[in-house]
Amino acid sequence: MAKQVQARIISTGIYLPERIFTNSDFEKIVDTTDEWIVSRTGIRERRIAGQDEFTSDMGTAAAQDALKKAGMTAADIDLILVATMTPDYTSSSTASIIQAKLGANCVASLDIQAACSGYLYTLATAKAYIESGMYRNVLVVAAEKMSSFIDYTDRSTCILFGDGAAASIVSNQGEGLFINAVTLGSDGEMAELIVIPAGGSRLPATAKTVSDKMHYFKMAGKETFKHAVRRMVMASNQCLEKAGIEDRALSWLIPHQANIRILEAVAKSFHIPEERMVKTVHKYGNTSASSIPLALYELVERENIGEHEHILLVAFGAGLTWGAIVLTKIMK
Ligand SMILES: CC(C)(COP(=O)(O)OP(=O)(O)OC[C@H]1O[C@@H](n2cnc3c(N)ncnc32)[C@H](O)[C@@H]1OP(=O)(O)O)[C@@H](O)C(=O)NCCC(=O)NCCS
Repeated sequence: MAKQVQARIISTGIYLPERIFTNSDFEKIVDTTDEWIVSRTGIRERRIAGQDEFTSDMGTAAAQDALKKAGMTAADIDLILVATMTPDYTSSSTASIIQAKLGANCVASLDIQAACSGYLYTLATAKAYIESGMYRNVLVVAAEKMSSFIDYTDRSTCILFGDGAAASIVSNQGEGLFINAVTLGSDGEMAELIVIPAGGSRLPATAKTVSDKMHYFKMAGKETFKHAVRRMVMASNQCLEKAGIEDRALSWLIPHQANIRILEAVAKSFHIPEERMVKTVHKYGNTSASSIPLALYELVERENIGEHEHILLVAFGAGLTWGAIVLTKIMK
């Protein structure tokens, strides 16, 4: 019998805008303090893209980095999947713009909108395409220009978010991180907890929606916090069970980097030492779909992950959406 194909991440790449926006920069534009931001969120600074630097530019740069690290070119890619909630346009897709910028041979491309859970949804989609035998090499990109959708007069949201992109090459062969077990979920009853109210078909953009600031990201922070912790713990437990491993068997935990207090609350539910949880929230803030792959990149660049080691990724975001994935190192 033919051996079951195992989709695996064979390389990762990132792109971060140069401009660093610190908490003291926020002290100059809204009524806040570095102390308040650090104590409530753990965030010290975040990156902000330039005015003429778009989501597709950041995604393309991250993809080029991942391709280079895999020793591949765009010609080796069969499919491009892009996780973003901050696309260049409502239509066309950011994935098709990235396809053109990379010069990838008119391959299929599509965006996946699952907000901060987007990278996990996109990895799961890549796994399904590869393990069905339909494609061999899938480029997974997460790219977000949150700063285009943030109201910089609203102190309760503007301090939280940052811009950035990360990419992974998911392949049917080679040394890498096997996408071992996947759990995904959503609850649209809570869609309005984190929402951009205007600019869609429900409330098309008008002068009034703009003057009412309805084209900006709105979030019920306290409520979101509770759901985030509950859903991330639930998804993690379901995913560990699917993978047939206990939390003690995990080498690393990478939660969505929303807020240090959410990360700590999730970590507390598992037998995993604090130093085994990857944290980037202090320097990048919440970069939505990009947050987990930015942290994953940092981990694989820093650590020599050994064969059979497990990494748990867990996310939560608008939708509401959530998900968890166990990655397991394989050598071929
Ligand atoms: C946003 C968040 C940091 C706010 O922290 P909180 O402890 O819940 O704070 P609250 O919203 O209850 O606000 C408490 C007070 O701080 C004030 N405040 C809000 N933002 C502030 C800021 N940047 N600086 C100073 N004060 C601020 C509020 O106005 C409120 O003042 P009031 O009591 O006079 O009305 C927190 O709710 C959070 O992180 N939520 C999760 C958000 C998230 O990560 N979402 C993404 C998931 S994908």
